[in-house]
Amino acid sequence: MSSKSKVLGLLEQNRGAYVSGAELAKEIAISRSGVWKIINELKKEGYDITAVTNKGYRLEMENDLLSIEGMTPYLEDDVDKNKILLYKTIDSTNNEAKRLSLNGAKANTVILSEEQSGGKGRLGRSFYSPKGSGVYLSILLHPKVSAEKSILVTTAASVVVCRAVEEISEKPCQIKWVNDVYCGGKKICGILTEAVTNFETGNVESIVLGIGVNFKRKENEFPEEIRHKAGAIFQEHTGGVTRNQLAAAMINRLMHMDHMLETGDFIEEYKHRSLVLGKEVQLVSGSENRTATVLDIDETGGLIVRYPDGNQGVIRSGEVSVRGLFSKE
Ligand code: BTN
Repeated sequence: MSSKSKVLGLLEQNRGAYVSGAELAKEIAISRSGVWKIINELKKEGYDITAVTNKGYRLEMENDLLSIEGMTPYLEDDVDKNKILLYKTIDSTNNEAKRLSLNGAKANTVILSEEQSGGKGRLGRSFYSPKGSGVYLSILLHPKVSAEKSILVTTAASVVVCRAVEEISEKPCQIKWVNDVYCGGKKICGILTEAVTNFETGNVESIVLGIGVNFKRKENEFPEEIRHKAGAIFQEHTGGVTRNQLAAAMINRLMHMDHMLETGDFIEEYKHRSLVLGKEVQLVSGSENRTATVLDIDETGGLIVRYPDGNQGVIRSGEVSVRGLFSKE
């Protein structure tokens, strides 16, 4: 581990409190001027560090830069930190996960970026991914379960996000089929799952699960066209909660994805969190639009619906809109 990483780790562990230059120098076995040099480098990178004579250095509570050192205090022991890759900027963490997968990256490799220049959403849309205010994360999965069970990755991931957001913020979350997470009546997270296929064999090599969470953003900071439905966990103040905490809370749970898929025991929770169960909805598939009532969600995550003519069906793709969810829908 580099000296810089050690300094940052110690400041993160003592976030909001002063650590003396002498203490840092002793712990890391470098000179005090060496510490001072590193502190300046960290400041240049954007870390909010206060330096006071006779007190030392303090990483401010509201400082919120993603870093492995910042996640470490919140990561469970079974998480391999060497498999967490953090970028300042990238086209899309999903794209990077796919590239790494084709170069032999291991299962459970996690890719995070401060921002995405080409964040991707479902159905060919883009995902707004500015720096400093979201968590954009992809994980490379090699599920050990049957193909039938791995279809549930996206459904399971939406439950993972709800649990993680509630852990760090105590704000209740719901899910709009199939995998949009809502908090305070707005969509705060989207999930995009992609398969990596080996061209030669045609086999699915791995699954890339991409999660984008809007962490802290005011309404007017979203592009106008999504403002009516997009939101963030926090609008202004986070009470000292950081994106590193959210990232760690998600990563901890994603490590148990195989177990979740194997048991399927999250489906009941998914149903409890559902915004569409028991509701009259519009089923949107391409240019087709159909009204239906959602009766249940089956064990594969499909929507069991009844049409106005009394016939029933199971919906596995497309989108659902719920009247009254947003003022403009
Ligand atoms: C949606 O709401 O349509 C899905 C959005 C998924 C966004 C995430 S952010 C991390 C990962 N990288 C991407 O390019 N997309 C996913």
